[in-house]
Parts: sequence; C-alpha cells; structure tokens
Amino acid sequence: MISAERIPNNVGLSGNKRLQRALEHWQPKYIQWWRDMGPQGFQDYHQVYVRTAVSVDPAGWAHFEYVKLPEYRWGIFLADPVHDRRIGFGDFMGQPVWQEVPGEFRNQLRRLVVTQGDTEPASVEQQRWLGQRCPSLYDLRNLFQVNVEEGRHLWAMVYLLHSYFGRDGRDEAEELLERQSGNRDKPRILDAFNEPIDNWLDFFMFTMFTDRDGKSQLLSLSESSLDPLSRTTRFMLTEEAHHMFVGETGVARILDRTCQLTKVAGFSGDVRKVGGIDLPTIQKFINLWFSLSLDLHGNEVSTNAAAYFANGLKGRAYEEKWDDHRVADAMYELEMMREGRLERSHIPMRTAMNEVLRDWYVGDCQSGVTRWNKILERHGFSDRLRLPDRKFNRGIGMFSSLHLDPEGHQLSDADWERRKHEWLPSSLDREYLLSIMAEPVYEPGRFANYIAPPQRGIKGAPLNFEYVRTEA
Ligand SMILES: [Fe+2]
Ligand SMILES: [Fe+2]
Repeated sequence: MISAERIPNNVGLSGNKRLQRALEHWQPKYIQWWRDMGPQGFQDYHQVYVRTAVSVDPAGWAHFEYVKLPEYRWGIFLADPVHDRRIGFGDFMGQPVWQEVPGEFRNQLRRLVVTQGDTEPASVEQQRWLGQRCPSLYDLRNLFQVNVEEGRHLWAMVYLLHSYFGRDGRDEAEELLERQSGNRDKPRILDAFNEPIDNWLDFFMFTMFTDRDGKSQLLSLSESSLDPLSRTTRFMLTEEAHHMFVGETGVARILDRTCQLTKVAGFSGDVRKVGGIDLPTIQKFINLWFSLSLDLHGNEVSTNAAAYFANGLKGRAYEEKWDDHRVADAMYELEMMREGRLERSHIPMRTAMNEVLRDWYVGDCQSGVTRWNKILERHGFSDRLRLPDRKFNRGIGMFSSLHLDPEGHQLSDADWERRKHEWLPSSLDREYLLSIMAEPVYEPGRFANYIAPPQRGIKGAPLNFEYVRTEA
C-alpha cells in the first residue's frame, strides 16, 4: 500500500481512490525500474542531500534533506489554477480551457504526453553510469538531483495518463517503463535520448542543450488548452531551470579551468598534457548536442504542428508576447530545400510552428554561449565558442539529407566523411575524456583537475560539505 503522504501531492490523492489504486499498481514497477536503470552503484548505501518538492509555493519547494535515492518522495504537483483561464491561441481562442480531454483530440494529446513522458526516464537511463566518474561530491549530488527530478517528471506525465486517458493511458504508463534508452528492440522515442552519456562533458552539454529543449517543449505545453497539462508543465519548468543551471555552470567551470591550465601548459602547448579539456573538444560537444537538440523540435514544415496549434493543444513559447494568437493567415519566412537548392521561402506560419519554437530555442542557447565567451574574454583569450549553423548535422527535417560544415557550407559526402571529426567528437576525444574521468572524486571539497570549483555550494552549505555520504 502507498499512502498519500508517501507521495507529496496537491492533486487530492487521498480523496481519489481510483487514482490511488492506479498508482499503487504502477509505483512498484517504477521503483524496480529506478533500481535497474537508475544511478548504478548508488541505490543502497548512499544518502544524497537533495531537494524534494513538498508543495508548489517557494517554501515547500526548497525542502532539503539526506535521502537514499530509491526512497526519494516523488510527488505529483500542479501549478496553482488561474481563475477563469481561457484558451489563448488557435481556433478556440477565448473559450474556457478544458478540465477533461475532448474526445476528438484524445489521440493527439496522448501522443504529446507520451512523447514528453518518454524523455524523462530516458535521460536517467542515459546518465546511470556517471556517478562512477564524478568530478566531485557537489557534482554527484547535482547529477542525482537532476535524476530524481526527471523521475518526478515521469510521475507527472503518468499522473496525466492515469487521470485523463483511461485504459490507453494506463497501458502507455507501463510502456514508459519498458522502452529503454539505446535498446535495439525497444528504444526511447526520440533519437537524442538514445545516445549514451558516458562522460561529464556530455552530461553538462546535455543539461545545457537537451534540457533546454525540454524547456522549449514545456513552455509550449504550458500554453495548452488542457488545463491539467498546462498546470503540470508549468510546475515542471521551475525544476527544469535547475537542470540548465547544472549544464551551463558545469561547462563554465570546465572553461575556467581550461583557461587556467592553458596558462600552465603555455599558450602554444597542449592543454591535454596537463589534464585539461581543450577548447576544440568543447566546441565539438557543443556542435553535437546543439544539433541533436535542434532535431527534437521536429520537422520544419509540419501538419501535426499546425494541428496542435489550431486545436489549442500546444502553443508557442510565451504565447502572450505575440500579437496575433489565431495565426489564421500569417506567413513565416524560412530557408528551404527546393530541388536540391537552398532558398528563402514563405509558408503558412501554422505549419512552421516547430521552426518558430526552434527560433526561440536557438536564441536561448545563444545567450548561454555568450555568457561562456565572457569567461574566455576574462582570461584574455581571443578564442570564442559558437553555435554551429542550424542546418549542421541534422538527422530530422529537410536538411537531414545534406552535409554542411558548422558555417553552413554544403559539403560532398566524401568531404563530410573525411572532415566530420573536425567538428564532432571522435572516438579518440571520448577516450581522452574517459581517461581523465576514470577516477571518481568522492572526497568532500576536492574537485577533479579538469574542472574549477563552483562559486558557491548548495543551499548555503560550504564546498567541502558532504553532499553525498555513505551510510556507516
Ligand atoms: Fe524533465
Ligand atoms: Fe530536465
């Protein structure tokens, strides 16, 4: 039996027997999944100083305590309702939002919830070996904080499936625990979530770029006419911010240390000789995770995206900032492939909604890269990091059939094969990273050689605090 207290919630779980029964059935499978596919080697003896959401107000959300990971209290929270909330875009604009799923949009909505839900456990699976190679206890704790919150995001989507999608929803909730990242027979739905994340540069880039795609998607779902979906995703956004903080500051600390080590190695020397991560390698990982995450936004021209918008299921990021919310006849200009050539074209904006969201995403990524470059500037470096052209290394959409360099110049297949590891991580780069991460750092206050300490600890605790401790 599970009790409502074991599952912190603001959805009236104790008064909803049907939902309680459904979750009672699902929870043991979830815990088993967490043990099998979650952080490897950190299931039984380790206590982690994590934040648990116990309510949606700021005080209830900043509750810190030591817990064993499988005993984390994964909760179900919806942001507070907005009084008299109305549909904010599309064909039904101005009508009251929905508290139940309209039959005609059931399949589309289920698909949106399942696709979002699938990414959450996938990322935990991808990251499950990282604890064995952590650069510090501070970073180890941050990894686990991200992991338990992705677990909570899975709970959030499973809550929606169980509450609003009947039997199909229950089946989908089971399948969310059956697909596995990178599994040949039952892979996760989206490609970026099947890529292995076996070193900490991958992890920081993933939380910078792929969790930011999460932010894109959550922003657009938080506009949804389905009010429980909107309220669920609105609360998830507050957690997502922390994931991107981990990614951005993780890379920033590596950059800081790389600059210090470059001075040690001599500017013309090889920073790898003193155990650092060279800027060209960092740039390659930006290229990789940025392009993979661009793919997550879907095809440039999409009738699905148009239908989601028209039906009020999925809006644009910060919909209120736009003037025209119906977008009945607005056009959108984008680069398109026409008979093998790139040219600027105009298409109905509704069919370009994936591209509109991608625009927001690229801008948000660029701000982060600009902040990283300030670190190089501060150290007196003339090198700069940058985002590759958005057509570079695409696996989805009309540019996936092309080969381009990061500046957007087209390449022949042969040139691409010959040169791709100038721009994307090679197996040698990965081997090097694993070699400097082979020894995990579990000593409080110590940091691996390739990364600078953070500016401050968690919740006012010092850097040498025992963020993860082993039970005696
Ligand atoms: Fe998430
Ligand atoms: Fe996340």
